[in-house]
Amino acid sequence: MLILAIETSCDETAVAIMRNGREIVSNELFSQADKHAMYGGVVPEIASRNHAAVIGHLTELALKNAKLSKNDIDAVAVTCAPGLIGALLVGVNFAKGLALSLDIPLIPVHHIRGHIAANYIAYPELEPPFLSIIVSGGNSLIADVRGYTDIRIVGRSRDDAAGECFDKAARVLGLGYPGGPALDKLSQGGDDGLFNLPRPVIEGSPYDMSFSGLKTAIVNIVHNASQKGEELDTSSLAASFARTVSDILVPRVMAAAKELGHTKIAIAGGVAANSRIRADFLKAAEDENQTLFIPPLSLCGDNAAMIGAQGYYEFMAGVRADMTLDARATMDVDMVF
Ligand code: KG4
Repeated sequence: MLILAIETSCDETAVAIMRNGREIVSNELFSQADKHAMYGGVVPEIASRNHAAVIGHLTELALKNAKLSKNDIDAVAVTCAPGLIGALLVGVNFAKGLALSLDIPLIPVHHIRGHIAANYIAYPELEPPFLSIIVSGGNSLIADVRGYTDIRIVGRSRDDAAGECFDKAARVLGLGYPGGPALDKLSQGGDDGLFNLPRPVIEGSPYDMSFSGLKTAIVNIVHNASQKGEELDTSSLAASFARTVSDILVPRVMAAAKELGHTKIAIAGGVAANSRIRADFLKAAEDENQTLFIPPLSLCGDNAAMIGAQGYYEFMAGVRADMTLDARATMDVDMVF
């Protein structure tokens, strides 16, 4: 089965063609990051306008690189939530038009479910049940993946997402947008114990997380140093910061996996690209006899292949949308369209 998948939830326009959910036939991506860099973050209207400008061309490119015609496509899958509403609407409306004109099924896909499904592409042997941690620019949550479409939230950030925290920390350090990769680079060789940063615990909710205090702590450290004219060891600050995020994420995931009886852990989302977090998860998994799945960097960030992968399993579960399909800025991963 060939699914054409569309992703426009934030600042990446992406179109992919997937065969039977696991095989990438083509995977095209247009990143607008440079268009938002001068503003220090994503400007929603600029994102929507750029999606509208490139989505048609990107679809033609995906078909061309797959050596397919649009009549070969069996279904259209599209990210409907969560994300920037104007950005999502571009993809949803384009997908509706495509499905209507080709008279093929339209499959709504939750963006976070897509991130989890990136693991199905990277690891053909991976099947639910497993525990997943999704750490992206807009979301941080731990999910119990009982089945391909049966996903329950175990823990989540009560405030900012881990990626947002990386981006804000990078911004205050003058590293530009998106800051995660630059902060990762800066942290190499730094002393990760030089700065003691907050690792909040939420009473009664052992798997919930909080990143806003960490964000404020970094901003205060940088501002205090600049007000006093002190030189800051930014490499050690970046290393201490990455270690702190990792210290918040890794023990929670390991404890949740143990409690729920999982032996497989799949990591997902852009922050999963972080070298410290990857290394700490690898070590913890080895220590606790867990099999760890981490997608390659190319599948960690937003892409349409992951939407096509999840779209396939949604289709198999009977999920379909009609022409009334709408986009939603927020929606829990355990809700159905
Ligand atoms: O999954 P993603 O591409 O988009 C969302 O769905 O949000 O994640 C983007 C986030 C950004 O906050 C970016 O700074 C972060 O992932 N990120 C990283 C790294 N690479 C990307 N954070 C830390 N270390 C990295 N190497």
